[in-house]
Amino acid sequence: MAYELIIVETEGRVGRITLNRPKALNALNSDLINEINAALDAFEADRAIGAVVITGSEKSFAAGADIKQMANLQYPDAYLDDFITSWDRIARFRKPIIAAVAGFALGGGCEMAMMCDFIIAADNAQFGQPEIKLGVMPGAGGTQRLTKAIGKAKAMDLCLTGRMMGAEEAERSGLVARIVPLADLLPTAMKAAADIAGFSLPATMMTKEAVNRAFETTLAEGLRFERRIFHSMFATADQKEGMNAFAEKRKAEFSHR
Ligand code: HXC
Repeated sequence: MAYELIIVETEGRVGRITLNRPKALNALNSDLINEINAALDAFEADRAIGAVVITGSEKSFAAGADIKQMANLQYPDAYLDDFITSWDRIARFRKPIIAAVAGFALGGGCEMAMMCDFIIAADNAQFGQPEIKLGVMPGAGGTQRLTKAIGKAKAMDLCLTGRMMGAEEAERSGLVARIVPLADLLPTAMKAAADIAGFSLPATMMTKEAVNRAFETTLAEGLRFERRIFHSMFATADQKEGMNAFAEKRKAEFSHR
């Protein structure tokens, strides 16, 4: 597929998607979402890809859903076309995916970053759910994922006032895994992704699946789920390689199977 609104690259076992609609601060219109989804489909199907980084520009990760495209949307069309459901593709992506966020991550942009497994933020990052200022509310998971990530008090504050939260506050609140200087953002995110992609692919995918399970179930069921998956790992070639390499004092060479 020829991409017009994103740049898709690979570096070793890492895939990178760069949102590239600079004039609109990477506002997310349906064409942009379709392109991201197509790139994710391709990366998911490709055994040579072990992790993905999604990023924007230095000024803006994504300034939200495209307000101009949404402005005249009517309820029947929103309902019949199931507006927003196609955005879930990122949340359903099965391999590890890191959001490298610089600048604005607002509305749907913040929601998209939260659909990733973790966020690495540049020191200029600004997060917010400003939909209330537009007469609406978050619609791509903001009320749910933000609340799970940072708790009720801060989520209510952000969603009801529409204010922005800087990188420091976002890290303190648990939304962001790491903050780095802007110039280090991409190298740091790519290094983290390369480290992940160097590990056993079944192990990283199963780890992601198990951590995500914590959001969906009780502790007892989550622990049971973890144990079942953990046991199944002894059927992988990479478990044998990883443990034997340790015993033989050499670096493991994973075959990702
Ligand atoms: C469409 C947008 C946009 C958006 C920016 N632009 N955000 N276009 N949708 N979400 C466009 C502007 O119209 C402008 O186009 C150009 O990008 C540059 O933006 P400026 O406003 O001139 O830049 P600046 O003064 O630096 O302000 C940056 C900003 C502001 C603070 C990020 O642009 C802003 O408040 N944007 C809207 C943020 C927002 O409300 N996001 C939530 C959207 S609703 P022109 O043509 O004038 O140069 C949402 C709902 C999600 O996400 C629910 C489910 C999807």
